Amino acid sequence: MKVSPGIFLLAFAAATSALDNGLMRTPPMGWMAWERFRCNVDCENDPKNCISEALFMDMADRLAEDGWRELGYDHVMIDDCWTSMQRDKDGRLQPDPHRFPGGIAKLARYLHERELKLGIYADFGTHTCGGYPGTTLDKIETDAQTFADWKVDFLKFDGCYSSPKEQEKGYPLMSKALNATGRYIGYSCSWPAYQGGLPPNINYTLLGEICNLWRNYDDVQDSWTSVLSIADWFFSNQNQLQPVAGPGHWNDPDMLIIGNFGLSPDQSRSQMALWTIMAAPLIMSNDLRTLTSEARNILQNKAIIAISQDPLGIQGRRLLQEKSRIEVFWRPLTNLASALVFFSRRTDMPYRYQSSLDRLNYTAGLYDVYDVFTGEVLSLPSHTTPFTVSINPSGVVMWYVYPVTHHKLTEGAGRYPNVRRKYRISSLKHRQPKGEHHFFI
Ligand code: GLA
Repeated sequence: MKVSPGIFLLAFAAATSALDNGLMRTPPMGWMAWERFRCNVDCENDPKNCISEALFMDMADRLAEDGWRELGYDHVMIDDCWTSMQRDKDGRLQPDPHRFPGGIAKLARYLHERELKLGIYADFGTHTCGGYPGTTLDKIETDAQTFADWKVDFLKFDGCYSSPKEQEKGYPLMSKALNATGRYIGYSCSWPAYQGGLPPNINYTLLGEICNLWRNYDDVQDSWTSVLSIADWFFSNQNQLQPVAGPGHWNDPDMLIIGNFGLSPDQSRSQMALWTIMAAPLIMSNDLRTLTSEARNILQNKAIIAISQDPLGIQGRRLLQEKSRIEVFWRPLTNLASALVFFSRRTDMPYRYQSSLDRLNYTAGLYDVYDVFTGEVLSLPSHTTPFTVSINPSGVVMWYVYPVTHHKLTEGAGRYPNVRRKYRISSLKHRQPKGEHHFFI
């Protein structure tokens, strides 16, 4: 059958109403102002910490100069409270003139010169959650175009002060409007967070077509209780949430608060590990100017970042909740590798948890294990080999697990001699994995 040009054009028009920006094939990384700096607009008395262009330039400098950008942390995201209380005479949003004297286009340039990207915040509704001018239906195209004119790279579109009916129109419309600008702008939709976050209220198929990420649940606060309640909600609802994430479209359990005041070092490692298992955006909200080296080491852990950014983009799952209050999480990765997290909800002392890969659904074979926090390597000669991990209260042990292939063994005859001696590994024949993994999701 011959397709007439008219039909072809129609099909094309329908396709472009989806968000086809090709962005964020792996979970986005960067820094966002909200959790740490909130709506502090008192630049007179608190000039270093108020929402102003100076704050975003400071954070851009830190990302560019302290090794963050090279690791993938390349977004600087403005949140609420950046605008003036009034739109300009043409109905466009404008930044507060005292706090952003150079304007947003100049700030975007500052970031682009440092190979960073600028994110901005707007709210679908009459006002933002902080009471600043919102984006109503009639303003969607104007605002999308304004952001594109300023060369903004990302939009967080919040949902305070709009009804469910309006949101059904507004979120897809903004997606279309961003597309229509011709600029590639990553799009985060807060829509699900305002509608309970779960099907049938939420149509995740649609969201996956129109948004690059979406907030599903509550705002993170600077406390372990908050981090734990968010993780619990996501993993309790993993059957609904896990399958909807993938390259270009992610669940967003909210910002990383590592480096602030509420988490112990163990809890900080837990947030990093659990967010990575969730294939969550790694968006920090902290003060990069005063970060301790302990927090920096957790956030800049290369192995964890590699797991987070795995090209398969499969969100992980909780596999087990033990009576001992140990939980085990798992995420499949490329090259038949995987990540495991052993997490303790205990409040007494380090717990020695015993298991085997077999118990965690791994198929027969020889596996090497890399502890991403300690750098230790362990070789498990069989999937049934028992192992013990010592997990601190509210802490984690996180492993990168990979099957050892015939090729790798022959090539790296001298690898891990101590481990091999310990397990008396000598014959290649016995060491070949017996089959492919059958990771279930
Ligand atoms: C909502 C969002 C937060 C933040 C604030 C700003 O609560 O969920 O992430 O953007 O609004 O007012």
